[in-house]
Amino acid sequence: MWPYPKIVAHRGGGTLAPENTIAALRCGLAYGFRAVEFDVMLSRDGVGVVMHDEQFGRTVPGLGSVPTTDAADLARLDAGGWFGPEFQGEPVPTFAQFVDYCRAQRIWMNIEIKPAHGFEAATGRWVAEATRDKFTDALAVGDPAGLPLLSSFSMTALAAARDAVPALPRGCLFDTMPADWQAQAAALDAVALHTNHKHLTPVLAQAVKQAGLGLFCYTVNTPERARDILGWGVDGFCTDRIDLIGPAFA
Ligand code: G3P
Ligand code: MG
Repeated sequence: MWPYPKIVAHRGGGTLAPENTIAALRCGLAYGFRAVEFDVMLSRDGVGVVMHDEQFGRTVPGLGSVPTTDAADLARLDAGGWFGPEFQGEPVPTFAQFVDYCRAQRIWMNIEIKPAHGFEAATGRWVAEATRDKFTDALAVGDPAGLPLLSSFSMTALAAARDAVPALPRGCLFDTMPADWQAQAAALDAVALHTNHKHLTPVLAQAVKQAGLGLFCYTVNTPERARDILGWGVDGFCTDRIDLIGPAFA
């Protein structure tokens, strides 16, 4: 039911490196992590890039936004300087660069489809097709452990991903689980529910497991909380504190 790693580095290196960069992946590796969650959005010219925020200003300087900027221009932005001088000049990776690095290093991926407003279906479709192209070998074998897991807060994006490449596993991502979570998961033929641990209860966790779904939480940053939710049957979670919660945490 959960063939994937249990502990996953959020946005690459959690709070220890600039999020969603190759430097973050290197940091995760230095802490022993071979599992990552990251966010994918489409540039103006329809290329998937690894960024969380639609607007510039937090992780890249200046004014502007991902959906109004071409990928070549996004690649020239500094995605590391905000975090620390040693990361200055760290680029915004393309999806292709990020996935290639992960595959070369045997890092498992939870690919969060993070559409800019109005681009939900296009982003879902693009991510599914680009992932299929990177994983033709694993798709042919049909072993789920060898595949990444797509997730999104946007059910429209997930539906587009399912229609484009049904064989790629999907997880419905909810902040607070809605009353009809089971129907939504079934409609998308999802294998897992991803949810904010802050709103999860033992009763809900048990219901998800009884429904035969994987259960993944974000973003769990203390060992105490991690132990609690794993005790409720949670299958895996991502963490920002890769220094406190290691890949072999139990
Ligand atoms: O995928 C889990 C988590 O990353 C969802 O929230 O805002 O950190 O992308 P966010
Ligand atoms: Mg995310």
